[in-house]
Amino acid sequence: MGNTKNMTHDEKLAKLGQIIGRHKKDGRKALMQVLQESQDVYGYLPLEVQREVAQGLGISVAEVYGVVSFYSFFSLVPKGEYEISVCLGTACYVKGSQAILDKVEEVLGIKDGECTEDQKFSIRACRCIGACGLAPVMMINDDVYGRLTPDQIPAILAKYKEA
Ligand code: FES
Repeated sequence: MGNTKNMTHDEKLAKLGQIIGRHKKDGRKALMQVLQESQDVYGYLPLEVQREVAQGLGISVAEVYGVVSFYSFFSLVPKGEYEISVCLGTACYVKGSQAILDKVEEVLGIKDGECTEDQKFSIRACRCIGACGLAPVMMINDDVYGRLTPDQIPAILAKYKEA
């Protein structure tokens, strides 16, 4: 997936055309597969892509949108180079993860579900990631941070800003 990052708009569109072309004959049955491959190219599934997929597979945009918004592994917004997931599962929530999320939003100047203009960071609140013993927990890509307090957040994010 990484090597698609620097593709131009036209190159991505051509790649999308190939993906749809490969699965066209299967129509609706291929929807999940096509969406997954398209997200690998684009990093997320903007409306423009959903329209192309719908047209290519002969189904409605509403149906495509329904699937994209239902499954959490599909994203409607671009992901940053660093995706920050703040766990709002029960164990983390009772240990104050909302305050962690608020602090991340404050430091980066974006809200949950958004991406910074330079595409470096995006934030997403998530459900339990299975590390409740470390609550409250946040992940930055594959790095897990536990037993967090809001005052630790600026220093943690600074490491990635400089990276
Ligand atoms: S509730 Fe946050 S890791 Fe389980």
